Amino acid sequence: METTPWWRDAVVYEIYVRSFADASGDGTGDLPGIRDRLPYLAELGVDAIWLTPFYPSPMADGGYDVADYRDVDSLFGSLADFDDLVADAHAHGLRLMVDIVPNHSSSAHPWFQKALAAPRVSQERERYMFRDGGSEGRGSGHGEPNNWLSTFGGPAWTQVPDGQWYLHLFAPEQPDFNWRNPEVREEFLDVLRFWLDRGVDGFRIDVAMGLIKAEGLPDTDPGFTSRSPIWSRPEVHDIYRDWRRVLDSYPGTRVAIGEVWTDSAEDLALYVRPDELHQSFNFAWLEAPWSATAFRKVIDDTLKAVASPTWVLSNHDVVRHVTRYGQGSLDPQAGPARARAALLSMLALPGSAYLYQGEELGLPEVTDLPPEARQDPIFARSNGEVPGRDGCRVPLPWSGTEPPYGFGSGGSWLPQPENWADLTAERQAADPSSTLWFYRRALQTRRELRGTLPDAITWLESPEETLFFRRGRLLCVINCGEGAVALPPHDQVLITSGPLDGTALPADTAAWLLTG
Ligand code: NOJ
Repeated sequence: METTPWWRDAVVYEIYVRSFADASGDGTGDLPGIRDRLPYLAELGVDAIWLTPFYPSPMADGGYDVADYRDVDSLFGSLADFDDLVADAHAHGLRLMVDIVPNHSSSAHPWFQKALAAPRVSQERERYMFRDGGSEGRGSGHGEPNNWLSTFGGPAWTQVPDGQWYLHLFAPEQPDFNWRNPEVREEFLDVLRFWLDRGVDGFRIDVAMGLIKAEGLPDTDPGFTSRSPIWSRPEVHDIYRDWRRVLDSYPGTRVAIGEVWTDSAEDLALYVRPDELHQSFNFAWLEAPWSATAFRKVIDDTLKAVASPTWVLSNHDVVRHVTRYGQGSLDPQAGPARARAALLSMLALPGSAYLYQGEELGLPEVTDLPPEARQDPIFARSNGEVPGRDGCRVPLPWSGTEPPYGFGSGGSWLPQPENWADLTAERQAADPSSTLWFYRRALQTRRELRGTLPDAITWLESPEETLFFRRGRLLCVINCGEGAVALPPHDQVLITSGPLDGTALPADTAAWLLTG
C-alpha cells in the first residue's frame, strides 16, 4: 500500500516529443525514439514522464493545434507505438502523463471545418466562439467583436467569409472551443477516457485557466491579470470537478496537473482543491531572477497558499534557466553553476518537481537560430521582432561530435549548435563531474530521503543573498551572493552543486547537509 500518493513528491520529466529522440530518421523526434531512451530516463532517476502533444496536427503551434484527439500523428508513430511506450515505461517503473489541449483545437479539426461550412446560427458554430462583428472601430479597429488580443500577438479574432468572427486566444489556426456547450464537455470527458483506457497515469492540461470566458465577452484591460474576462473565470472549476470524477473512477491513482498562469499563489491554489486538479504548475520560480530574496518570496508564498506544491525551472515555452541565470554575469560558468544550485534547492522542497528535457545536460538556450529555421508562430506573428520559443526546443544531443549528435539518422528539424559535442549525454555519462552525473546523484539522494522528511520547512538566519532552510534532518543552503560564506553547523555534506571552497559555500553554489 502506498502511504503517500505517487504524484505528491514525484519528479516528472517533460519530453518535448519533437526534440527528444528520432527513431524514424525524418529529423523529428517520435514515440519509438522515446521508447529507445527509457533506460536513460530510468537511470536518471525520474518518477514519471510527461509527453507534449503527439496527436494528428498541422503543427501550426508545434502540435498544440490538435486535429484529432484520439490518434497519433504519423510524424510521431502510431497508436500501437503509443501502447508499446506505455507498457515499456511502466516496465521501467516510470509513470506516463500526456498533454491534453482543451482550450482550442486545430482549425483542421473536423468540428471546425464543419463550423466554417455551417450557417451563422447553427449547432456546428456553437462548438466554437463565433460572434458577429462589433461597431466600426471596435477591437483593433476592424470591427472585431471586442478588444481581446492573441497571446501570440495581433487580435484574438479572425473573420470568416460570411462576416462572422471566431475567437482564438493563440494562433488563428487554434480556434477556441465554447466550453459552455455541453457537447464540448462530453467530448472531452470521452477523450480523457480514451487515454485512461490506454493506461496513462495522468494529464497535463494546456491553458487550464482559459476555458471559460466571461458572459458577453466584455473588453479587457491589456496585460495579464489572473482574473479577467478571459482567464480564471469561476465556472472553469466545474469542468475540473467533472474531470476529477472521471480520473477517480479509474483504478490506481490517475492525476491531472493544470498549466495555470496566475498573478498570485492564492489564485493558483483554487485549482487544487480536493475535488479538482491534483496539482497546478507553479511558475513563480521560473519567472524569478537569480536572487535569494526572490527565491525566498516564491517559496514562502507557495508553501503558504498551496497544499500540494510543484516546482519548475524550465519548460518548452521559456528561455532555458542556464541562460536566464547567466544573463548579467561576465563569467560563462555562472549560468550552468546557478542552474545546478537552483535545481538542488528546488529538489529539497516538499512537493513535486518538473524537469525539462536537456536541463540534465545543462543545455543553454540556442539564441542564434537562423530566421528561416524558426517555426514558433510567435516569431512570424511579430514580424521577427520576438524570437519565440524555438531556442529551448532544439533537439537533444545524445552522442558523437557533430550535429545531429545521435538525435536520429536524418538531421534535426531545428539546427543544433556546432559546439555541443561536450554536452552530449554520451560524453557526460563518461564524466562523473558532469551535469548529468550531478542530476543523477541529486535525484538518487532525493529518493533515499523520500518519506523521511516533514512537509514543512523552517528558515535559519543566513548572510545576505543566501538562503538556509531546514526540512527535518536536511539542511539546504544556497548562495546567490558574490563571495563564499561559512556553512552552518552540520554532521555530513550529502551533495553539493559545485565544489566547496574548503569548508565554505562559494557563490553560485548550493548544498544539502545532514544534521541530527
Ligand atoms: C501552452 C503550451 O505550453 C504552449 O506551447 C502553447 O503554445 C500554448 N499553450 C497554446 O496551446
